[in-house]
Amino acid sequence: MRIVALVSGTGSNLQAVIDAVADKSLDIDIAAVGADKHGTYGVERSAAAGIDTFVVNFKDFTDRGDWNHALTEKCLSYAPDYVVSSGFMRIVGEEFIGAFDGTYINTHPALLPSFPGAHGVRDALAYGVKVTGCTVHIADAGVDTGPILMQEAVSIVPGDTEESLHERIKVVERRLLIATLAALAAKV
Ligand code: GRF
Repeated sequence: MRIVALVSGTGSNLQAVIDAVADKSLDIDIAAVGADKHGTYGVERSAAAGIDTFVVNFKDFTDRGDWNHALTEKCLSYAPDYVVSSGFMRIVGEEFIGAFDGTYINTHPALLPSFPGAHGVRDALAYGVKVTGCTVHIADAGVDTGPILMQEAVSIVPGDTEESLHERIKVVERRLLIATLAALAAKV
């Protein structure tokens, strides 16, 4: 199974996937890692692992559709079975979703459909829920919507900050992402 991973940030979840591939506990091929901006640690650490990397810089495009088209074409050029958003913080358009219909995987640091959007951890904390978690799902054209593949709860503890809670969620998120990819690889 070939994947292209997309990142906007540090890519620590992606690193867990890279490590699992390296130690052969996950049998997939990371064909490339792409980002929507220059200078992400996610791209840097992927290049260091010998993975092909690319940037389709959102700010280089005046038209969102043109950026979406360039991203779609770039991802298609690797002929991936799945594209994995691993902390990719841009909403992709219809063309991308059409090209990767049912094969675009997203991870989200909350129990969807609760707390979608860019601040899922902060919003759960602010609401005062006692349990949140993470979700791995097939992404459709909405914001953090689409069929759920795996989900796991994480308790909020007294004194939690957005950072402490997000770090605990990410520990679970990494395990879930790897388990999801292993399950999908078994089917390809
Ligand atoms: C993850 O919690 C992901 O769900 C969210 O951003 C975080 C990415 O972290 N969208 P990292 O870049 O893998 O460290």
